[in-house]
Amino acid sequence: MSNTATLATLSGSDPAADPNWWRQASVYQIYPRSFSDSNGDGLGDLKGITAKVPYLKDLGIDAVWLSPFYPSALADGGYDVDDYRDVDPKLGTLADFDAMSAALHAAGIKLIADIVPNHSSNRHEWFQEALASPRGSAARERYIFRDGKGENGEIPPSDWESVFGGPAWERITEPDGTPGQWYMHIFAKEQPDLNWSSREIRDDFLKTLRFWSDRGVDGFRVDVAHALTKDLTEPLLSKVELNPAGTGADGHDDGSHPFWDRDEVHEIYVEWREVFNEYNPPRTAVAEAWVHASRRARYASPQGLGQAFNFDLLQADFNAEEFREIITRNLAEATESGASSTWVFSNHDVVRHATRYGLPQGGGRHAKGQDGKGWLLAGAPAEELDVELGLRRARAATLLMLALPGSAYLYQGEELGLQEVAEIPDAQRQDPTFFRNKGVEIGRDGCRVPLPWQTEGTSFGFGDGAAHLPQPAWFSRYAVAAEDGVEGSTLEFYRRALKLRRELQTSEELDWLDSGSADVLRFSRPGGWQTVANFGDEPVELPAGEVLVSSGPLDGGLLPGNTTAWLR
Ligand code: GLC
Repeated sequence: MSNTATLATLSGSDPAADPNWWRQASVYQIYPRSFSDSNGDGLGDLKGITAKVPYLKDLGIDAVWLSPFYPSALADGGYDVDDYRDVDPKLGTLADFDAMSAALHAAGIKLIADIVPNHSSNRHEWFQEALASPRGSAARERYIFRDGKGENGEIPPSDWESVFGGPAWERITEPDGTPGQWYMHIFAKEQPDLNWSSREIRDDFLKTLRFWSDRGVDGFRVDVAHALTKDLTEPLLSKVELNPAGTGADGHDDGSHPFWDRDEVHEIYVEWREVFNEYNPPRTAVAEAWVHASRRARYASPQGLGQAFNFDLLQADFNAEEFREIITRNLAEATESGASSTWVFSNHDVVRHATRYGLPQGGGRHAKGQDGKGWLLAGAPAEELDVELGLRRARAATLLMLALPGSAYLYQGEELGLQEVAEIPDAQRQDPTFFRNKGVEIGRDGCRVPLPWQTEGTSFGFGDGAAHLPQPAWFSRYAVAAEDGVEGSTLEFYRRALKLRRELQTSEELDWLDSGSADVLRFSRPGGWQTVANFGDEPVELPAGEVLVSSGPLDGGLLPGNTTAWLR
C-alpha cells in the first residue's frame, strides 16, 4: 500500500503546524456532560475538561473530539442546538471554552468540535421565528414546512418515520391558534430539519465554521453529514416505495433517496473546504455519514470534508476473516480517495464494545439477538453477558485498531474497560430513542453514564453532586483511581499502546503476513513492527521478536485466544 503522507516527525517541523496531523491521529471523544463536573450540578462541563487535561496528556492521545457543548434543552443530548456560536451556560462560557482550548493546545492536543448542520433545535431563534410567521414566509423557508393532506390538512405530508421512531413530521399551531402546517424532522421533533437550499443557511454555517476556527478549533466532526440536501418534489414516495427491500437508509447506493446521501450534498462541503483552507494548518473535518460503503469516499475527498467515519469494524462481529476483509477494503479506499482511514469501535451512539463482545452472536453494532433486535437495546438479560470475555476481546480489538494506518477514534471510558450500563431506571432515561420506541429500545443512555474517577464518594469523583445519569456500584472497579499505575489495568494498557503507536507510526503502509491460522491476523508496518491478533479461543505460537505490548497476559511463547500482541 502506498505511503501517501510524510509525517512531520520525520521532516522535523513543528508538529502543531503539520497539515497532516490528522492522518494517523488517535482522537478521544469527550461527551462533555458525562466527563467531569466542576461545579457539582451533576452535569459535566468545560472547566471539568480543563481540569483533566493532564489525564488526557498522560493517556497519549493526539486530539479531543468534543460532542456538542452548545446551548441546548438536551432533547437529544445536545444534538439539538439552540445557538451554534455559543456555549451552553450549564457547561460554561466562551471564556471557559478558550481556557480549555488553550490548555489542550499547551498539552499538544488538538481540538475537534462537533457541528450539527442537518437540524437546529426547536428553540433556535430561526425556528421560533418560523412558528410566529405565516405560511410561505421567508422564516418558514429556513425549515421544511408542508401543508398536511386530508380535508383539513390533518394527515402528515408522508408516512416517513423518524430515525428515533414515530413520525418524521410534526404539526404546528399557527400564530392565530388554528392547527397548521407540518415540519419535517428526521430525528426528534425538537430537531427540525434545516432547508439547505437556502443561501442564508449556507452562509450562516460558513460563519459558524470561521467562528470556531478563529477560536482555535482544529477540526470538525460533521453530524449526519449525509442528510443536508433534500429533494422533496411532490408527490413524496411512501416509506415502502423508498425502501422496497426494507433496507435502511444506507441501502441506497445511487443518490436517489429524497434525503439520504444525495449527490448535491457535496457542493456544500466544497464550500466548507474553501473555509478550512483559509487556515494554517487547514482545518480538518470528518463526516458522520452512514452511507453505502461505495459512496463513503465522496465525503472523504480532499476537495470535501477530507475524512469520513468508517463504521465497518464497529458493526462487525469479532471475527478474523471479517476484520481482514474490512481492513483491506478500507485501506484501499483511503488510498484511492487520498484520505486516511478512520477506525472506531465505540461512541456515544452504540453499545460499548467491551459489552458487545461479551454478548452472544459476535458483538456487532447493537449485538443482534435472534429476533433481529439489539440485545442491549431491547434490554439484554444480564446472564447472557460475559463481562470478562467482552473486555478481553475489546482490548484485543483495540490493540489491533491502534496498529492500523489511519486515525483511531476512542470513546471516553473505553480506556477504563467500562461496560455499558443496562440498569438505568426508566424514569431516569434521557435518550429520545427510548421515549419514541416505548418497550422496544432502551436507547443510548447506557454508554453515556458519567465517568468514574474515584473508587468511592459522590458520583465516583465525577463531581460533587449526583450524576445526571445514575452510576451503578460496579463502576468503582473501573475508576481511574483503581487503574492508575496498576500493572495490567486497561488504563495502563491504553497508555502504553498509545505511546508506542506515536513512536512506531512512521508511514501509512501495512503488509499482511501469513499467520498460519484462519483465526489469526498478522501484519507488519514499516520499522520492523508486527501485530498478531488471535481471534480464536486456542493459544497460538508467537512469532520471534520482542513483545512491545499485549492486550492480555501471554503464556510463555504463546499468544492466548482473544489476545493481540505487538512485536518488534
Ligand atoms: C448523530 C449523533 C447522534 C444524534 C443524531 C442526531 O447520529 O451521533 O447522537 O442523536 O446525529 O443529531
